[in-house]
Amino acid sequence: MRVKCTVNGQPQEIDDVWEGESLLYALRERMGLPGSKNACEQGECGSCTVYLDGTPVCACLVAAGQAQDRDVVTVEGLASDDELHPVQQAFLDAGAVQCGFCTPGLLVATHDLLEREPHPSDPEIREALAGNLCRCTGYEKILDAVRQAATTAAQAKAGLE
Ligand code: FES
Ligand code: FES
Repeated sequence: MRVKCTVNGQPQEIDDVWEGESLLYALRERMGLPGSKNACEQGECGSCTVYLDGTPVCACLVAAGQAQDRDVVTVEGLASDDELHPVQQAFLDAGAVQCGFCTPGLLVATHDLLEREPHPSDPEIREALAGNLCRCTGYEKILDAVRQAATTAAQAKAGLE
């Protein structure tokens, strides 16, 4: 089957997609976008989180065929040109990246949280990231990164007003 969709703003056509092939496989193995990670392939860890029509999903649980005529944004699509998105920069600055396997999913989940709630409380952050497992950091630096990203976004917004 051929699947046509938009990925990170670019039209894509994927040929020979087999029944049951996951969106995660198609992104990583066919489209050269290895940012979304495959850690569990069972919807348990969140490391494969991407946007599908603006909603975060586990790409390992979405069939590639379900992306037909839809809009996919991966962690690669958060950055613009050579500049990291402020959420990505905050994770680096806060030391929230160790092995990095969880990071792409956390970045998409954090991006989504801050789009919905620019000033999240700690419980709101924990709830928003509850589906994203990290085996390395103990989560404190991830919380720091999300708070920092929220502060940076608020300062940037204030500067524009
Ligand atoms: S790889 Fe998709 S949720 Fe773990
Ligand atoms: S940094 Fe290793 S799993 Fe999160």
